[in-house]
Amino acid sequence: MAASTKFYITLILFSLLFLAIYLFPWNKTHNLLIVSNLLSTSTTKFLQHESKPNIKKKLAIEEQLAKARGKIHKAIVEKRFASNQKNGSFIPIGTMYKNSFAFVQSHTEMMKTFKIWTYKEGDIPLMHNGPMKSIYSAEGHFIEEMERNGNPLAAKHPDEAHAFFIPISVAKIVHYLFTPAEAYGFLERMQTIFEDYIDIISQRYPYWNRSNGADHFFVSCHDWGPIVSRNNPKLFGNLIRVLCNANTSEGFIPMRDVSMTEINGPYNSIPNVSGGQSPHNRSILAFFAGGNHDVVRNKLFQHWGSNEDNDIHVYTYLQENQNYTELLSGSKYCLCPSGYEVASARITEAIYVGCIPVIIKNQYVLPYSDVLDWSQFSVQVPVMKIPDLKRILEDIPFSKYLEMQKRVLEVQKHFTVHIPAENYDVFHMILHSVWLRRMNIRLLKF
Ligand SMILES: *[C@@H]1O[C@H](CO)[C@@H](O)[C@H](O)[C@H]1NC(C)=O
Ligand SMILES: *[C@@H]1O[C@H](CO)[C@@H](O)[C@H](O)[C@H]1NC(C)=O
Ligand SMILES: *[C@@H]1O[C@H](CO)[C@@H](O)[C@H](O)[C@H]1NC(C)=O
Ligand SMILES: *[C@@H]1O[C@H](CO)[C@@H](O)[C@H](O)[C@H]1NC(C)=O
Ligand SMILES: *[C@@H]1O[C@H](CO)[C@@H](O)[C@H](O)[C@H]1NC(C)=O
Ligand SMILES: *[C@@H]1O[C@H](CO)[C@@H](O)[C@H](O)[C@H]1NC(C)=O
Repeated sequence: MAASTKFYITLILFSLLFLAIYLFPWNKTHNLLIVSNLLSTSTTKFLQHESKPNIKKKLAIEEQLAKARGKIHKAIVEKRFASNQKNGSFIPIGTMYKNSFAFVQSHTEMMKTFKIWTYKEGDIPLMHNGPMKSIYSAEGHFIEEMERNGNPLAAKHPDEAHAFFIPISVAKIVHYLFTPAEAYGFLERMQTIFEDYIDIISQRYPYWNRSNGADHFFVSCHDWGPIVSRNNPKLFGNLIRVLCNANTSEGFIPMRDVSMTEINGPYNSIPNVSGGQSPHNRSILAFFAGGNHDVVRNKLFQHWGSNEDNDIHVYTYLQENQNYTELLSGSKYCLCPSGYEVASARITEAIYVGCIPVIIKNQYVLPYSDVLDWSQFSVQVPVMKIPDLKRILEDIPFSKYLEMQKRVLEVQKHFTVHIPAENYDVFHMILHSVWLRRMNIRLLKF
């Protein structure tokens, strides 16, 4: 292949730092110093090369991203909100945001600029289709929204796309192909489906090769989502994995991958979001109901499962006269321990009824934490501190509880499902996380 048609991808440190801007609150001056320090070290890392895409289009794409980066930078430095906000439109202000200015501008730029190509290859039911109910519903809703006619972020042609979506559903593969009798080798077969898919699109189009997968992503809420890339780090080394199971001990890389929320979706509908009880009227200090399985929950039940304590309510099964939603909504704090995997749909359930989530997990990267400061509306308890749970919660002054509860209501917006998607809702939060990661790389021509 002629040198003039070769393309290189460079991970530029400038943009890597861009994420760093989100990861630290802007109002601490040292962050800007960090950024400018890092800006002066122009280390580059080559990932891959090759292919012959439309040069004009590609430059235009990178120019668009450069422009968006510039605008976000400007909003951060000048501490102002995007000028083209519609009158009355929502502006995310408050301590639960790491940097409101950056977030508003970045979301605005995303809606204006970001175009995603969803590959058409493959057939239902394993592709272009996902679960629409129960705890993996976020996977199905995401795929459906991407492929919905009229999705404003859909690219009309792959040449104009900034990112490429691989519409395979791990949950559907498991649903249709997994049988306990043939469990042996199943995970390898699942990996092969992904590898074959990538083989097809990388033969047929130039996009995978030119970035070595760095501007491609897939979405999975299933526990086994991370496994698809496990055995082939060469092929999947750059792919952006959007996962509910964001376990850093299982290879989740926060700078590359995206943590998304599990949402326990009711059949054929979307979950209700309410204010729940008034914060003054919540008689239960902390509540949990669910199966006693895996280490974290075993420990929770070992310490609190006897329910001898009147303040910490921990049940496996509820009595017939007990109503789960009402118990959640009548509690100040809702316990969200890891189960089979790190993520828990209980976090969204708690937020939906105005209950402060108490996240009891190790090795978990919280969703959308590039922009959200979870410490402002949740309590995080390491697994080893489970015996101290009551003391930790009682030590939170009531005034602080009230502030955090108010913020829970304010962030509900970012966890709410809408069909079609709306600004700042959960679907846009997921996409915004992908957008940030896409802005961290740049396709370069040499
Ligand atoms: C925004 O709309 C409100 C009423 O809907 C109006 O009172 C206000 O003047 C408007 N502000 C601007 C800047 O247009
Ligand atoms: C992409 O790379 C693979 C492996 O090197 C190669 O087989 C394939 O033909 C390339 N695709 C294109 C479109 O050039
Ligand atoms: C949501 O609330 C509406 C109205 O109160 C109710 O009809 C519907 O069944 C609720 N949906 C769920 C999933 O609870
Ligand atoms: C407080 O809770 C009780 C019992 O659930 C309910 O009947 C009452 O309306 C609530 N009061 C307020 C102010 O929310
Ligand atoms: C539980 O309470 C919620 C909210 O009050 C209500 O919508 C729902 O129907 C109740 N569920 C059952 C099974 O009674
Ligand atoms: C996270 O991954 C580690 C390593 O595989 C595992 O030991 C741990 O149980 C996982 N956490 C959960 C809650 O599944």
